[in-house]
Amino acid sequence: MKLRLLSKKLFKRLFLFSIVSLIYCNQTYSAGAAARNESSVNRMIIHADKGAEQISRNIYGHFSEHLGRCIYEGFWVGEDSPIPNTRGIRNDVVEALKKIKVPVLRWPGGCFADEYHWMDGIGPKEKRPSMINTHWGGVTENNHFGTHEFLDLCEQLGCEPYICGNVGSGTIQEMQQWVEYITFDGKSPMADLRRANGREEPWKVTFWAVGNENWGCGGGMTPEHYANLYRQFATYLRNFSDNRLYKVACGPSGGDYRWTEVLMREAGGGRRSRMNGLALHYYCGSGSRSRSATQFDEIDWFEQLRRALQIDELITEHSKIMDQYDPSKRVALLVDEWGAWHNVEPGTNRGFLYQQNSLRDALVAGVSLNIFNNHCDRVKMANIAQIVNVLQAMILTKGEQMIVTPTYHVFEMYKVHHDATLLPIDLQSTDYRFGNNSIPAVNVSASKDDSGTIHISLCNLDPGNAAEVRCALEGADPKGISGRILTAEAMTAHNTFENPNVVKPVTFSDYKLEGNILTTTLPSKSVVVLEIK
Ligand code: AHR
Repeated sequence: MKLRLLSKKLFKRLFLFSIVSLIYCNQTYSAGAAARNESSVNRMIIHADKGAEQISRNIYGHFSEHLGRCIYEGFWVGEDSPIPNTRGIRNDVVEALKKIKVPVLRWPGGCFADEYHWMDGIGPKEKRPSMINTHWGGVTENNHFGTHEFLDLCEQLGCEPYICGNVGSGTIQEMQQWVEYITFDGKSPMADLRRANGREEPWKVTFWAVGNENWGCGGGMTPEHYANLYRQFATYLRNFSDNRLYKVACGPSGGDYRWTEVLMREAGGGRRSRMNGLALHYYCGSGSRSRSATQFDEIDWFEQLRRALQIDELITEHSKIMDQYDPSKRVALLVDEWGAWHNVEPGTNRGFLYQQNSLRDALVAGVSLNIFNNHCDRVKMANIAQIVNVLQAMILTKGEQMIVTPTYHVFEMYKVHHDATLLPIDLQSTDYRFGNNSIPAVNVSASKDDSGTIHISLCNLDPGNAAEVRCALEGADPKGISGRILTAEAMTAHNTFENPNVVKPVTFSDYKLEGNILTTTLPSKSVVVLEIK
């Protein structure tokens, strides 16, 4: 008995010593890129007593655009539809989304936002003018889903609205009046118009973006030109009544560091800055070979995940620029469009961006959310593109049918991180090698919630090998552990209308907790969330 105790102690000491020496003799990792590890075991220390930053629930935000079947069919079926709905918004989709606790929803675009004139989307539906949705398939937009319908949707979901105003083809007056229409509680032309359209009380809207991708579809502007426009538009976005706007500037595409530099210099820094957030966009595909969402080989798997991991470097580099102008981190980086972008499903409109969603997409979501968590000192919101039927969707619909995707399940499993305190991690990951290239096999983030419960979300990116993880939970006194896993036999596994439960989370129990030493084996190509009480 004594000997067993002794050897346990000895093992613990040796283990901690080997972790510490491995980390400090080689490379130290925190919040993002894993250090290389030549051994076959992934080693990490979670500093359970050193949490300082809160993971904003808005990192788990979403995006809905007038694009393809996202708004129409995805949410909006109209009051007279045989599909069960509440004031025209389908009930099954709302119910499913409530389970992942959508915190914030961005609307109406995307590229559509800089062509959208909000006054066309209010008042009696039969009198609303139509327009052509030139960005997305050239289809006719009847404006039946407008401001009232969007804010009703947010109320049904229990989430905050995030509205993107039109800079590219709109005016300052138009944007100013939109804010007045929605948020002013006194007597004014716009507030009275809102009342005439059936809404007595103003709504609360905090998050407001001044244009979308104004370097591209939102006007093809230079950063200098847009920075001036931003200052001008932001000046007239008023805080009516007790509503307080959080103003978001169009940020860079991927690695356009000059855009960030100019925006921060001209409009982001200083005490009189009118900017609360700068919006970064980053999409990842699988490269030039196969770009199908469901028919791919390991090269596509590897390439997709390699590209997904690059968001870590992008956030790090943009943050460094922001630090120069805003060292107190008053301006947040919002990744308000991100996700996997594949080919459209065969036989569907190319302009509708309807794609399937496989286990590979679940891994993209898992690593991206871990990276956002680990950067939560600067990243205060992220909005995956898009919520229903477009790009890396949570939900796919076909007529009255609805299925949830592997990505949906990751958002459901990770909701334990909402508003929890980020725990710093030192990780030494093994490599997942493919050909002459390699990426870290294991990707992780951890948090502690208000009740003291620790959650660790771990991804094993390697589709062919399990990953053994040894972890010291420093400063913790764990009493119990449980887990859930999302994985499947095939890399390409996905849910269909015929087989909706091919990829779904199940209980995971391949772990051991001895004192504060946790060991676990992550199956190949898996997302695991552990709960430690
Ligand atoms: O999400 C699809 C499109 O991608 C958005 O409309 C645009 O902002 C981005 O280029």
